[in-house]
Amino acid sequence: MRILVTGGAGYVGSHTVWELVAAGHEPAVFDDLSKGHRAAVPEGVPLFEGSLADRAALDEALASFQPEAVMHFAGSTQVGESVTNPGLYFRNNICGGLNLLDAMVRAGVRNIVFSSTAAVYGEPTAVPIPEDHPKAPTNPYGESKLFFEAILRRYETAHGIRSIALRYFNAAGAHPSGRIGEDHTPETHLIPIVLQAVLGQRDKVTVFGTDYPTEDGTCIRDYVHVCDLAAAHILAVEALADGAPSDAFNLGNGKGFSVRQVIDVAERVVGKPIPYEEGPRRAGDPAVLVASSEKARTTLGWRPAYPDLHTIIETAWRWHKEHPNGYGA
Ligand code: UFG
Repeated sequence: MRILVTGGAGYVGSHTVWELVAAGHEPAVFDDLSKGHRAAVPEGVPLFEGSLADRAALDEALASFQPEAVMHFAGSTQVGESVTNPGLYFRNNICGGLNLLDAMVRAGVRNIVFSSTAAVYGEPTAVPIPEDHPKAPTNPYGESKLFFEAILRRYETAHGIRSIALRYFNAAGAHPSGRIGEDHTPETHLIPIVLQAVLGQRDKVTVFGTDYPTEDGTCIRDYVHVCDLAAAHILAVEALADGAPSDAFNLGNGKGFSVRQVIDVAERVVGKPIPYEEGPRRAGDPAVLVASSEKARTTLGWRPAYPDLHTIIETAWRWHKEHPNGYGA
């Protein structure tokens, strides 16, 4: 299938592009390279360098590539930044997404897989979190993603666009080939930060909060391998092509790990102690986020290939060790 991947030079987007190629699909990337990396796009995959704010660039990419479906990853993704700069999040994630949908309507492309997030739920009232859990995002990032899910439903009624929204929990790890991985500036995610401390690129890890109502007092998250997220996108786009109805699915392993447990597992992976200090809570962090992904398993047939945190961190470690400066190496 010919698939236009917005944000295909970013972390989850690029892993999906590699897996699409491996599965025999024909992806092209649409990315403004503001956060993404040209080197993350496999050789031979067309790269349309453009912004979602640029309607003509979107029209051009759709007209020249003629995709049968779109996967939409492009957007702003940092919870903390969304609180200090909400305009950026509403503009990029909502206005940008609307430009994409309007261009799809003009081009006659009717299927889209959307990169959503666990942040649509806010502070959970039940764990593991099912898809019908109340949606009460606690930050503009989660709000922007939730609102775009609502926009997708309206575009189906008005324009016949079918969509699958995939709500990821904590994306982690790197491609097992070691060729691509996680490279954010600034880096805010726990596992790469822990590995940067191992490499001496930072003095230590600060554990954000040790007084949460969890067994060891630190936040619990559900880490899911980036290639398993990629595989879910492929199942979703194939399901839409087969006529599946619009839907939304959680993607996680259903198993929570505390910040301290992540550091412990990382110490076993790298074979040395990792320096860390205890710090205050980070604003907006729910205590526990663990997915129920039963629906993705039963409806899409999704079976994570890397459900084990040790393996997830091993793949991340290989990437960070071999590319200490990310794509800038
Ligand atoms: N953490 C630390 N120290 C750090 C970095 C993170 O203790 O230096 C902690 C965080 O407080 C959190 C856990 O490690 O408890 C994981 O933090 P990440 O920043 O790696 O990931 P988040 O859970 O904040 O973010 C994820 C997704 C977002 C999504 C969010 C929902 O990356 O897309 O969950 O809350 F919006």
